[in-house]
Amino acid sequence: MHRDVAALEQRLQDCSAPQKLIATDGVFSMDGDVAPLRELTQLAQRYRAWLLVDDAHGLGVLGAGGRGSLEHFGLTGDDAPVLMATLGKALGTFGAFVAGSEALIETLIQSARSYIYTTALPPVVAEATRAALRLVQEEPWRREHLQALVARFKRGAGQLGLNVLSSDTPIQPLVVGAAPRALELSQQLESHGILVGAIRPPTVPQGTARLRITLSAVHREEHVDRLLDALATVFAAGECARG
Ligand SMILES: Cc1ncc(COP(=O)(O)O)c(C=O)c1O
Repeated sequence: MHRDVAALEQRLQDCSAPQKLIATDGVFSMDGDVAPLRELTQLAQRYRAWLLVDDAHGLGVLGAGGRGSLEHFGLTGDDAPVLMATLGKALGTFGAFVAGSEALIETLIQSARSYIYTTALPPVVAEATRAALRLVQEEPWRREHLQALVARFKRGAGQLGLNVLSSDTPIQPLVVGAAPRALELSQQLESHGILVGAIRPPTVPQGTARLRITLSAVHREEHVDRLLDALATVFAAGECARG
């Protein structure tokens, strides 16, 4: 039930638990599209449920200030009482965090088993994360550049007639269907010097194996063009092989 607000509402209606939690990715990691967070916050209010947003792929990328999926929709932390994200994606370091009310954080500190029994983040990683956060705040051109790369890729993929999922984020999945085909294409791209992971079931549903193209702010326009040229070559070769 991907992005299916009506199905979620049905479940909330059917749920008699005194405490309800809606949990979602901000940006879906294998599809690249964004959760309908406005609708989810409305449902959370209507059914007195908590909303947890895992913004692993939104933080540092979406929103004018890079604050992530909530900012993208003009929402704030008040709309998502449990906001978590990892530091290992856009921020380029390691670890993760949960943001929320003092009561929530205190409860996690006192009773979250994985927190209590895990070694704290090394100070050097914390400091590197602070440096990354400064870049997110002070260098919005990185996000603008990234969005321009996404637009360039989508335009080129459209011209090539490639089956790219509807995503406006740097995660641009290209569904190819069968798992062996995804693996073969990934290997062919690698032989062109391009690293694109082949995502196969059970990570994604059967029959929807895909190439997970991931753009980054350190890419340049010519990298996108090289990727498009390589995709055109490997897909054309596949057509010939099948014909
Ligand atoms: C949505 C989401 N949440 C959490 C994680 C975990 O990230 P990490 O291992 O960097 O904490 C991932 C990793 O891909 C992810 O896609």
